[in-house]
Amino acid sequence: MAQKTRGRRTVVLGMLGTSLDTGQGPHRWTKWRPTVAMCQQDDLVVHRLELLHPPSAGLLCATVQADIQQVSPETQVRPTPLDIRDPWNLEETYCALLDYVRTYPFQPEEEDYLVHITTGTHIMQICMFLLVESRHIPGKLIQMTPGTGRDRSGPGTHTLIDLDLSRYDALAARFREEQREGLAFLKAGIDTRNTAFNRLIERIEQVALQSRAPMLLTGPTGAGKSQLARRVFTLKKTRRQVSGPFVDLNCATLRGDAAMSALFGHVKGAFTGALADRPGLLKQAHGGVLFLDEIGELGADEQAMLLRALEDKRFLPVGADKEAESDFQLIAGTNRDLQAEVERGRFREDLLARINLWTFRLPALRERPEDIPPNLQFELEQASQALGTRVTMNKEAQTHFLRFATSAEGRWSGNFRDLNAAVLRMATLASGGRITRDVVEEELERLRAKWQPSTPVAMGSGSDRVSEVLGASLAAELDRFDRVQLEDVLGVCRSARSLSDAGRLLFARSRAQKKSVNDADRLRKYLARFGLGWKDASGRDESFPDDG
Ligand SMILES: Nc1ncnc2c1ncn2[C@@H]1O[C@H](COP(=O)(O)OP(=O)(O)O)[C@@H](O)[C@H]1O
Ligand SMILES: [Mg+2]
Repeated sequence: MAQKTRGRRTVVLGMLGTSLDTGQGPHRWTKWRPTVAMCQQDDLVVHRLELLHPPSAGLLCATVQADIQQVSPETQVRPTPLDIRDPWNLEETYCALLDYVRTYPFQPEEEDYLVHITTGTHIMQICMFLLVESRHIPGKLIQMTPGTGRDRSGPGTHTLIDLDLSRYDALAARFREEQREGLAFLKAGIDTRNTAFNRLIERIEQVALQSRAPMLLTGPTGAGKSQLARRVFTLKKTRRQVSGPFVDLNCATLRGDAAMSALFGHVKGAFTGALADRPGLLKQAHGGVLFLDEIGELGADEQAMLLRALEDKRFLPVGADKEAESDFQLIAGTNRDLQAEVERGRFREDLLARINLWTFRLPALRERPEDIPPNLQFELEQASQALGTRVTMNKEAQTHFLRFATSAEGRWSGNFRDLNAAVLRMATLASGGRITRDVVEEELERLRAKWQPSTPVAMGSGSDRVSEVLGASLAAELDRFDRVQLEDVLGVCRSARSLSDAGRLLFARSRAQKKSVNDADRLRKYLARFGLGWKDASGRDESFPDDG
């Protein structure tokens, strides 16, 4: 029932509907007329109606006014002639309505304003929408809907639309949903629990979608740098932020002249064997993303050229006399400490400054043990797909595996590569796709052997911490001279309490002779030469307070 509100009054601004509100004889009461129906709503009292109408429709306006007076005596109707010669012309209509609302004495402290948009031409409705949206009219929209079924001649219903609220709510909900999707996508749908990792992914998502600046992904091998780079690209692609392709290159696979030409292209005849023009990867990545993995392996000339390409979006292909252009986003990957490489004179400081605006360090798997269970599930599903059969792991087997995996014994030096390989081996050996405790036990033996080699390596020392920490391929590139020394240093680091402690042990003689001022710093610099930090060398996650 119409409730009499003391105090605030409701005022509607509406256009007379020159077709919807028509009707003169008694049968007009059987017809749904939106403007009249609005004044017949049980839960809406219109105290005043500003009825805008073309000057030529005075008669119709009078009828509607009289009818409203009959059904809603509390409504004051104020017919307002508005001369719009062509109500289908946007400019004319907008200007006429704008002039009207500019001089309208709105009193928002005392009155609530509704703008009726069921009647009038579509152009008028659009203009009214714009005027509410731009707050020229401090109100909400009201829309009338006819009744259905037997009720067709009744007053129907009304809907209020608050543009501020609906825009805010819908967009906020949409935004949250999109962000959730983006994060899940970057995490390959794995429900990770590690807070630091989840926060990292959130940041990466934000940066990926807000910025085209270079991004640097660091972290140990197998931590997921390459995969993440590709996913960042795909996310940007789904949000239509890139038009070009994803082009990736592992810089460690390139040497000498081949590197220049692969990256920057060459012209036909630039060197023996250059039988045709080659655009090069930078050019190919135009409009897209170029992922340079192991960027620390890039030679000096390539580094200089890359810097130029990042700064000016131009570079000179090998043998060319004209520069080529390419606009791409760079994502770089490395498991080296590039700052240390700069100090060793092996990486350009200006290039590092250019690419490390956004540096994200992907943690090693053993730094986030709580994520091993969801990742195990993920790997089981992957294995099921790879083997074409459903692979499961019984409760006991799972507990056994996870206890080992999350203990200090679970080194996971190859990170996801190790986990992936372990699960794939177990899945392959499981009869009927069911991984039992025995299958797990056998795998744990393999992993123990892999991570703590008991067989002497070529160097003759009892262990091979160098391969464990650097990975077999990098370790193989070291001179025997460096390798033996690094092996021993790593041994000391493993047993030392802290970086300073290890420094004191390693430089005890120089210390006694006062030749060394800062043992910890000396050790830190030594390790950095191999791209290693204290965490890698000591094999421990907790960083001890560094008193050196
Ligand atoms: N977040 C992750 N969860 C599960 N598996 C992953 C994840 N990231 C990467 N992988 C898998 O681990 C392996 C190594 O990932 P990759 O991106 O190549 O590591 P990186 O480039 O850091 O050496 C790949 O097989 C990849 O599919
Ligand atoms: Mg990689």
